[in-house]
Amino acid sequence: MRTETPVTVYRKDYQPYPYAIPEVALAFDLDPESTLVHSTLRIERKADAPADAPLVLDGTDLQLVSLQVNGQAWSAELYTLDEGALTLSGLPASATVEIASRCRPAENSTLMGLYVSGGNFFTQCEAEGFRRITWFADRPDVMSRYRVTLRAGAEYPVLLSNGNLLATQSLPDGRQEAQWEDPFPKPCYLFALVAGRLTHRETTVQTASGRPVLLQVYSDPGSEDRTEWALESLVRALRWDETRFGLELDLDRFMVVAVRDFNMGAMENKGLNVFNAAYVLADPQTATDANYEGIEAVIGHEYFHNWTGNRVTCRDWFQLSLKEGLTVFRDQEFTADMMARALDDGAAASARAVKRIDDVVTLRAAQYPEDAGPMAHPIRPESYQEIGNFYTATVYEKGAEVIRMQHTLLGSEGFRAGIDEYFRRHDGQAVTCDDFVAAMESVYTRQHPGRDLAVFRRWYRQAGTPRVAVKLDYDAASRRCTVTLSQRCPPVGVERRAGDDYAKAPFHIPFALGLLDPQGRALPLRQADSPQDTVLLELTQETQQWVFEDIPARPVPSLLRGFSAPVIVEYGWTDAELALLSAHDADPFARWEAGQELATRQILALAACHQSGNGMQVDGNFIEAWRALLTDPALDAGYRARALALPSEKTLAERMEAIDPPALAA
Ligand code: SER
Ligand code: ZN
Repeated sequence: MRTETPVTVYRKDYQPYPYAIPEVALAFDLDPESTLVHSTLRIERKADAPADAPLVLDGTDLQLVSLQVNGQAWSAELYTLDEGALTLSGLPASATVEIASRCRPAENSTLMGLYVSGGNFFTQCEAEGFRRITWFADRPDVMSRYRVTLRAGAEYPVLLSNGNLLATQSLPDGRQEAQWEDPFPKPCYLFALVAGRLTHRETTVQTASGRPVLLQVYSDPGSEDRTEWALESLVRALRWDETRFGLELDLDRFMVVAVRDFNMGAMENKGLNVFNAAYVLADPQTATDANYEGIEAVIGHEYFHNWTGNRVTCRDWFQLSLKEGLTVFRDQEFTADMMARALDDGAAASARAVKRIDDVVTLRAAQYPEDAGPMAHPIRPESYQEIGNFYTATVYEKGAEVIRMQHTLLGSEGFRAGIDEYFRRHDGQAVTCDDFVAAMESVYTRQHPGRDLAVFRRWYRQAGTPRVAVKLDYDAASRRCTVTLSQRCPPVGVERRAGDDYAKAPFHIPFALGLLDPQGRALPLRQADSPQDTVLLELTQETQQWVFEDIPARPVPSLLRGFSAPVIVEYGWTDAELALLSAHDADPFARWEAGQELATRQILALAACHQSGNGMQVDGNFIEAWRALLTDPALDAGYRARALALPSEKTLAERMEAIDPPALAA
């Protein structure tokens, strides 16, 4: 039991680590009661670090067995050992530090570090679990090449770690040994080992450049008939990253392991992803569409981290959204593309929208309340006491929206150019969210000389969900339509506690807009050179206006198409306008949104009639809109199912002044 007072860590206090640790060799003698870990670190003091800089290594719940520097026992006057750290002083500028220590995997119920589940050994090191395995600089900006030796009794026939398998052998004492080497430098949070009795399914595929790679999915014996979909999903993820982002698997071997006890959904350890079994195993007798979709998405997510997170990682944990926002965005796009596979263009757009709709529903249900309450925080927090509490919907899901807005601003080719630039600048480095935006900005500024992403960067430091009020004025005489957008976002959460001096500035909001004529046809809008059905308005100030010429009649606006920004739109549509959008809007997201709002209004009106004992007819416009959805041959069936589903009872209840469940049910 510890009773330490929590320490607050601030982003502004970042200091580089004074030593480089280019090489790490780890040897494990695995035993559930007491595992011996022998760690050999090659350390080099950085040129700009003071000569007397101590080497501070984090460690928790470890027992020190021995400590040597350059082959000699290190004198007790030159190190201190306390609850959280082993600190060595008086070190030469470069040295080999050898630490032998013991930990207790069977007793470890934190599911961080090395632990036992179902009789097998597993690890989880993100964010700060490696310090429960051995003393080390447990921070993401210390990147090392790892060589790992695992030794265990015959009850643990499968011995896995990161990277490529170098050798296996039987030891004279009857135990097994396996040696692994990961050729890519990585932070220790990406270290993993798995040891035990596991079965696996595998396949070999060629990467785009023609290299054969072995893909494997490991699980408990007896579950081999439930891993087919996971392995197929892994192949699809590998192909998708090659074609969509030009990113190839960099190892000879890639493993996924299912475990029953796991803190998170899954973990992207280099070449050895460890998964909550729920995201690997699918029993064809009982798995639902949602189970299959979830497995494919999480397999994709962890696989995509191999580049966005592992090859380029985070400088510190304040930058968590650098890897998570980007990788969630990538897995969302993967799922959308998989849903649209083999469909023609019309159906493909609505099939992709199914994923978009589902993600926005989740964002509104999970992230908007977070952003409105006492827990509100920007996607890149300024301080924390426990980083484990920051794996939030804001960092992940809103983080993905912030990446998506950059995709929307740059266009898909521009975004790809920005990603290429990001890897050109930062491959092999631990970087910040600013570095990512700077790479994107280099493309944006090329596209729009004189403009930059300075205002956009506020999404990283301001919390809260902005509201965008829309005003539409139409002048029949001049055939001119003026659209006015105004944004506001009062301080929330920690910003509010910061007091009156907290000045919040406008966000850079990409706002996709279309205008429909009274028959529901798209009006061509002239913004740049060529007329188009959708224009992207870039709202960067509190209020801005855009004028559209040659509009023959008062149009119906289709707003925030594709949900182009994580904001709340305020506009007073009439029911007839919503029905028109629901029947005709070419943007499948806005079309769905209009239908949901119309259905909500209908049901609330019916509920009110029920309460007052009056009868009421369903609005003919509503019936017409549903008829159009049912009979539109261009729509994908999955989209139709979403569009024809009524809003949830919870959504409806939130709109009632006094919640009346019987009236809603009726
Ligand atoms: N880094 C892990 C993931 O997001 C933990 O949540 O995939
Ligand atoms: Zn992730």
